[in-house]
Amino acid sequence: MALPAITAFATRANAYEGRLKSDGSINWDAFLSAIEIEAKKQHLDSWNELAYVKQASAIAARLDLKDPNLEKAFTLAKANGVGNKRVDFSKLEKQIDYHVTLVQFEKNEQIMHHDHPEMTGVLLCATGEVEVWNYDLFAEKENGKDVLLKQTSHAMLAKGKVSTLTSKERNIHRVAAKEFTQLVDIFAPPYDKKRIADSNWYHVDTEGYKGKDKLFEAVRR
Ligand SMILES: [Fe+2]
Repeated sequence: MALPAITAFATRANAYEGRLKSDGSINWDAFLSAIEIEAKKQHLDSWNELAYVKQASAIAARLDLKDPNLEKAFTLAKANGVGNKRVDFSKLEKQIDYHVTLVQFEKNEQIMHHDHPEMTGVLLCATGEVEVWNYDLFAEKENGKDVLLKQTSHAMLAKGKVSTLTSKERNIHRVAAKEFTQLVDIFAPPYDKKRIADSNWYHVDTEGYKGKDKLFEAVRR
């Protein structure tokens, strides 16, 4: 769905006040409705993950971060999580085809290298700023543990910006916060028992493989 289509959708869905603001931002309800429409397409033969993450990014970038529903969740996560010395995850929405999670980091907290098997992810930075490294699986030994990862991007994700991954591209990432940060993460399909069990954590060499600066040896932990 192109941006005008999102606007048209949000306007059509405007059964009650406040779904679409004059600045074009969409409220939490309209955001979920639009994501749901896109995420449902995963069941179609024509499902295209790249097209989906592009659309979901456009929707996420228009989410009104001052929506009262979201602000309540941000405040609650802060009240519950600050000082506990770990990254916090809280559920914002869970549906059959997707889920939305609030991920909260305090300054210098990070999530080390991990993958998202057969999933897509769209990460919206709502507060603060994080550093994000993305990798593709480049090669894998028969033992299934030793792998080569190719770093495909390394960028700062500032407030209002979006980072994406698909099952094939950028699927492995590391996320590190330089300051207090809250991310709104959309996963489609959502985590379930199998996808959680299939998820891998990686111990990644700090030095590039054979002197190459974008290839890294890694071990599935
Ligand atoms: Fe992740």
